[in-house]
Amino acid sequence: MYTGLVHAHSGLRWLALLLLLASVGVAISKWQGRSGYTDRNRKLYLFTLISVHLQLVIGLLLYFISPKVDLSLMSEKLYRFYSVEHITGMLIAIVLITIGYSRSKRATDNVTKQRLVGIFYGLGLLLILAFIPWPFRNLGAGLF
Ligand code: HEM
Repeated sequence: MYTGLVHAHSGLRWLALLLLLASVGVAISKWQGRSGYTDRNRKLYLFTLISVHLQLVIGLLLYFISPKVDLSLMSEKLYRFYSVEHITGMLIAIVLITIGYSRSKRATDNVTKQRLVGIFYGLGLLLILAFIPWPFRNLGAGLF
């Protein structure tokens, strides 16, 4: 089960990144172009939110079973990364994306709706990119 969860969590990163990139691109261009807010936009932003929440659920399960999470080994880079840095960075990113989605949903003005997604999803995307254990960081993780 552990290996399956790591592969799901690792592979799903690409879907989440793709959806985030699309959402941020659409939201910023519509915000700047002052054009409308469509049902397709809403669906894209919702699927993006779902993809990061799915990562949260799988990540939480992994946090309890992964051999790379050990709070007593904080002096070692790899354990510190997965036990504290990865979870903190990703939680902040997911909270930002969730706030962006719900504030955008409640907003009444179309341009404000796009601006909120553009800013909050954009910040979330930057944080996620910064806290992914990319292979060049030598944190024992691959690309898939
Ligand atoms: C959008 C958010 C997230 C992304 C894109 C993401 C991405 C990744 C990636 C790419 C890996 C490396 C997998 C591999 O070995 O190939 C990983 C590992 C891990 N992630 Fe996340 N993660 C996210 C959120 C979270 C959250 C919120 C938690 C905890 C609550 C979490 C816990 C973990 C743990 C414990 C591992 C180590 C698994 C292992 O190899 O034993 N992740 N994550």
